[in-house]
Amino acid sequence: MQEAVLRKSRTNDRDQEFCEVVIDGLSGAQKKLHPKYFYDQKGSQYFDEICQLEEYYPYQAETKLLPKVASQLAGILTHEYAMIEFGAGSLQKVRPVLDQIQGIKRFIPIDISGDHLRASSALLSQEFPDVSVDPVEGDFSKPIDLGEIQERKLGFFPGSTIGNFTPDEATKFLHNARQTLGQNSYLLVGVDTKKSPATLHSAYNDAAGVTAKFNLNILDRINQEFDSPMSPEKFEHYAYFNAEKGCIEMHLVCLEAHTVYLDDIRVEFSQGESIHTESSYKYSCEEFGALAQQSGWSIERTWLADQNLFSVYLLKADKA
Ligand SMILES: C[S@@+](CC[C@H](N)C(=O)[O-])C[C@H]1O[C@@H](n2cnc3c(N)ncnc32)[C@H](O)[C@@H]1O
Repeated sequence: MQEAVLRKSRTNDRDQEFCEVVIDGLSGAQKKLHPKYFYDQKGSQYFDEICQLEEYYPYQAETKLLPKVASQLAGILTHEYAMIEFGAGSLQKVRPVLDQIQGIKRFIPIDISGDHLRASSALLSQEFPDVSVDPVEGDFSKPIDLGEIQERKLGFFPGSTIGNFTPDEATKFLHNARQTLGQNSYLLVGVDTKKSPATLHSAYNDAAGVTAKFNLNILDRINQEFDSPMSPEKFEHYAYFNAEKGCIEMHLVCLEAHTVYLDDIRVEFSQGESIHTESSYKYSCEEFGALAQQSGWSIERTWLADQNLFSVYLLKADKA
C-alpha cells in the first residue's frame, strides 16, 4: 500500500512530457532523445565546461567576435530595445552587447534549464544594475508569452543552438521568432560554419571526455524520472560528421545487448545500436541566407570569425 502511494506521488511529481517523449523516442526503429533534455542543472554545468575546452572552437570563436559585432551594432540600433535571448545558458555572450548598446533597458533571457538561468540572471543583474533582467523558464520551440513589451525588440540566439534544429525546424523557429519579435525587430544569430571534418571531430570528441559526460547525462535524467532503468556504463559517446546532411551527429552507442523497462514499456537494446541524441548543422552564408529569407528576415550584416570558424548574422524583420 505504502509503495503504491509512493509510486503515485512520484508519478504526479514527474515531468510527464519528458517521460512521454522518452518512451516515444526509445520505441522507434532509430532510437532518439531530444537535445533539449541535456540541459538540467548538471547538463548546463557540463556545457559550461565544454565551452572552456580548447577543441570547442565555436565558443571561443563567437566570444572573440562579439565585442566587434556589438560595437558595430551600437551604430545601427539607435532606438530603445528590449533584448530577448533564446537558450540563454550562462549569459556570457550578452555582456559585450549590454556594454556597448545603451538603448537596451530590458533583457529577457529564456532557457529550459530554470535553476541555472535564475542563478546566471542574478549575477548579470548585479553587473548591469541599469538593465531590468527578467528571466523566463520555457521552451523556445513553443509559443512563449512574454507579456507586454513596449520597446522594439532585439532577439539574440548565439551558440549555434539554431544548428540543433533540422533546416526545416530552423525555418519554423525563425518564422515564429519573426512573429514574436514583431515589426522593426532585429535578430542576432550565431551560426556554425562548414569546415574540415577533422576540426569538427575533435570539437565533439574532446580528449578530456567532457562531451561524453554531457551526452551520457541524458541517461541520468531518464533515471531520475523513471525507476532508474538505464545503465550509463552500457553506453558510449559517439560523434561523427554526417557529410550528406551537413551536420555533426551525437549518439550513445549500446555496448551490450540488454532490456530496459520504462514503466511497463519494454525496450530492447542490441549491441552496437545507437540512441541519436543531437544533430548540429553547419551552414554556409548562402544556405543560412536562404533559411532567413524564407522565414521573414533579411540579412542586414554578416560577421565571420578568424579562419571563417564561425558566423554571426544580424537579421532585420521584413515588413509584414
Ligand atoms: C548550446 S547551449 C548555448 C548557451 C549559450 N546561449 C551560449 O551561446 O553559450 C544551448 C542553450 O539553450 C538551452 N536550450 C536548449 N533547448 C532549449 C529549448 N527548447 N528551449 C529553451 N532553452 C533551450 C539550453 O539549456 C542551453 O542553455
